[in-house]
Amino acid sequence: MKFTVFGNPIAHSLSPLIHQRFAEQFGIELDYTRSLTSKAGFAAAVAKFFRSGGAGANVTVPFKTVAADVVTHLTPRAAHAGAVNTLIPLGHGQLAGDTTDGEGLVRDLQRVLERDELPYEVLVIGAGGAASSVIEALQEAGARVVMSNRSAAKVSALQDDFNDLQAIPFSELARPPSLNGQVQRVVVNATSASLSGAELPIHSAWFQESVLAYDMMYGKQSTAFLKQAQAAGATKVADGLGMLVEQAALSFALWHDGQLPNVEPVLPAVRSALE
Ligand code: ATR
Repeated sequence: MKFTVFGNPIAHSLSPLIHQRFAEQFGIELDYTRSLTSKAGFAAAVAKFFRSGGAGANVTVPFKTVAADVVTHLTPRAAHAGAVNTLIPLGHGQLAGDTTDGEGLVRDLQRVLERDELPYEVLVIGAGGAASSVIEALQEAGARVVMSNRSAAKVSALQDDFNDLQAIPFSELARPPSLNGQVQRVVVNATSASLSGAELPIHSAWFQESVLAYDMMYGKQSTAFLKQAQAAGATKVADGLGMLVEQAALSFALWHDGQLPNVEPVLPAVRSALE
């Protein structure tokens, strides 16, 4: 069975390793490759892959949005997020697009916080593609999602698409939270600021009062956001490696008759493969 992940860059993608480990859990043999493509060549590359017998594909940065345009069917959650990370062939040239990112984050938060519901206020910092793909799943898991972004207009646009999405001005993050100590909060970094190593203008009280500071980014070294959270006295921190493995597990289940892999034994192998 042939699988691939489309992205640019893609050379360092851990998806082949993750899916091999999952496949071993079920005695499945698969060939999972990395496919580097350009924006202009994306649709043709996808069509070629599935014409040649591809059994499924993942889509990563920067193609998650355009992937919604190359499928013949979109799941409701992918349509709502405006993003696709999983392609599933339906036969007769039909292709379904789904996103497992939001549920992947939810499952990782459940794992890290060791609980099934998420009765928290989840402050999502950022309002780009990464942020929009997780709002619905967080709300469905019981979280009250509050969003804050440097450019306020992006948050307003998302509020048109998602009910009950709360917002606070970015400048307010530089001051202690107003209901300090009265809400159980998780702070999630969904900005790309960690890529440039930039610190975010967040008052240390946001971290001290939260049950968890979570960065959707990950790396061999601790991310800039998690270093900042730790320095500010955060109770608990976690990076997005667990989300990466969880979203992969959900994609795996979509391709393999609902068989959901166990992520726990795979996490250390993936962590040690980080470059
Ligand atoms: P992604 O698909 O990773 O979400 P994106 O759609 O380009 O990427 O969005 C990047 C997000 O990170 C945006 O919310 C961006 O804020 P703006 O909308 O104001 O641009 C946020 N971001 C990136 N660098 C940042 C920084 N140094 N400080 C604050 N926000 C930052």
